[in-house]
Amino acid sequence: MVTIRPARNISGSLRLPGDKSICHRYAMLAAIAEGTTRLTNFSPGADCACTLHCLRGLGVECEQERDRVVIRGQGLRLKGPEEPLDCGNSGSTMRMLSGILAGQEFTSTLIGDESLSRRPMARIIEPLTRMGARIEAAGNMAPLQISGRRLRAIDYKMPVASAQVKTALLFASLYADGETSVNEPVCTRDHGELALRAFGAGIMQNRKEIRIAAGKKLQGIEAEIPGDISSAAFFLCAAAIFPGSHLTISNLLLNPTRSRLLDILTLMGARMNVMQLEERHGELVGTVEVRGGGLSGAVIAGEDTAALIDEIPILAAIAPYTGKGIEIRDARELRVKESDRIATIARNLRTMGAQVEERGDGLKIPGNQRLKGAEMHSFHDHRIAMAFAVAAIRAKEETRIRGAEAASISYPDFFATLDSLVQR
Ligand code: S3P
Repeated sequence: MVTIRPARNISGSLRLPGDKSICHRYAMLAAIAEGTTRLTNFSPGADCACTLHCLRGLGVECEQERDRVVIRGQGLRLKGPEEPLDCGNSGSTMRMLSGILAGQEFTSTLIGDESLSRRPMARIIEPLTRMGARIEAAGNMAPLQISGRRLRAIDYKMPVASAQVKTALLFASLYADGETSVNEPVCTRDHGELALRAFGAGIMQNRKEIRIAAGKKLQGIEAEIPGDISSAAFFLCAAAIFPGSHLTISNLLLNPTRSRLLDILTLMGARMNVMQLEERHGELVGTVEVRGGGLSGAVIAGEDTAALIDEIPILAAIAPYTGKGIEIRDARELRVKESDRIATIARNLRTMGAQVEERGDGLKIPGNQRLKGAEMHSFHDHRIAMAFAVAAIRAKEETRIRGAEAASISYPDFFATLDSLVQR
């Protein structure tokens, strides 16, 4: 349980641990590349530790010392594991690794915690089976037993907007007998494509269609991972809701498929500066400075919802403090994340005394509300724990969050960092 006291504003500067989405992808590609990959600013979260743990189970040497990770690539063929591969709470580990396991000549089993074992896996089972893998999963949920083989190239039109599924298919395509194409319904984060290119794969991208050649050998890389923008989102939003806040975040991932939050906060009235831009392995990185102010409101729908999928919990949590409120549409996917985020957000907002309308595919949260301190739960969901810690700093009284340790899934130091930035 963590107790959060109200604050006056958020000020200071920080650098964040490496982006979770990029860490998973670099680690997996490093494992099937030739040569050694050296990564710095690797995410300290439990999710990325699960990916390294699974890779070790597949015979890959991964050394970790604080934020430095060294991975000795095995080439495309990994070793059959002796035990089930435990993906913990990490949907990214389970879905993306399935793409690599589908192309191996052995059978492996992927397991996960209670939350992960309830999440939908048909979205990867269906296309990977079409490529020739055999996957057994009761009710299309984990555990997954994957019997891999040389795969068939396919042209696949994805029915769901999911970067995890897209990446799983691109990874599987490395083991196919020709060129594979993947079409997505809306553009999702493109770290899989950029990472594949950085490791030397033959990949071509034309808007929502990606084509990838099979059989190309990958080569290890050296990289400093940019700071996680989905973790930064909690501090950016915290700063934005208080006039008088001034926050600077350096070494931050600013990939345009991930940085829609900066536009939304700017459109709502936060003052934002982006500086010191550079590119690293195709990823845009820079420094962001934000000054808080009276935020108006926003409607988030369609492609914006897909682009902001991990930032919706924090936007919803600050919505009562905006002038006009925030409406979120087309977000049914939120119901199958680490928790049913539409339900858990609505429940915690109501516990704090907020008015909120819960819909099948979204939420409507009026603005100009004052929230009270309360006792609530993270529902074992890292982003719910962190989002409501931010809602709590503008509440009238103290708030207690049970199960707050869930934050360590992506950001173990979150509460200490928040505490170092709040001014009381
Ligand atoms: C991720 C994609 C998103 C996101 C998750 C990370 C990724 O999931 O919610 O936190 O790294 O590709 P979906 O692919 O299920 O939308």
